[in-house]
Amino acid sequence: MQAAASAKKNVIVTGANSGLGLWTTRHLLDLGYQVILACRDVNKTKQVMAKLPKVYPENAFRIKKLDLADFTSIRSFVLNLPDDEKIYGLVCNAGISYEGDFRYTKNGIEETFGTNYVGHFYSLYCWLKNLNRQELSWYPVNCITPIISRRLQKLI
Ligand SMILES: NC(=O)c1ccc[n+]([C@@H]2O[C@H](COP(=O)([O-])OP(=O)(O)OC[C@H]3O[C@@H](n4cnc5c(N)ncnc54)[C@H](OP(=O)(O)O)[C@@H]3O)[C@@H](O)[C@H]2O)c1
Repeated sequence: MQAAASAKKNVIVTGANSGLGLWTTRHLLDLGYQVILACRDVNKTKQVMAKLPKVYPENAFRIKKLDLADFTSIRSFVLNLPDDEKIYGLVCNAGISYEGDFRYTKNGIEETFGTNYVGHFYSLYCWLKNLNRQELSWYPVNCITPIISRRLQKLI
């Protein structure tokens, strides 16, 4: 990706406040993309971003609430994306690892599957349904979502 080609393009990164998501965010910012950090804990994300070197323009990134374990939060996140802004890419990075006892998402799905797969699947579904007002050009992902999303695109 070239810096000139990335100017003013919006990219959403889920789970952007730590690990691979944070590094991806920083790399995209370095390339000149405008990043929407989609995170379940907005205050934690603000604190993380406040510790970064102050090298990015003030409007280079925005933090928005997205809890992938909650369909209501996903719908709300997508519906609150500004109508007049095109989304160039989605990085479906957020995820948890199975540990210990079974836990469930707010919608009653096993938490790891519900967050990593169903949450991103449903997010992509909502995003794609909104494509009439947004433009999605690419979406690097780290799980099965690309395969599903290609099938989804044929369906809707
Ligand atoms: N690191 C590896 O070696 C490795 C290997 C294979 C796959 N992966 C996958 O790569 C991705 C990133 O890994 P990582 O090591 O960077 O993980 P990480 O540091 O634990 O970061 C995970 C991110 O996902 C977010 N997240 C968790 N549940 C969420 C939810 N319900 N809604 C929204 N965000 C949620 C976390 O937010 P909070 O800060 O709020 O918890 C955090 O920002 C994960 O999907 C992981 O499964 C990583």
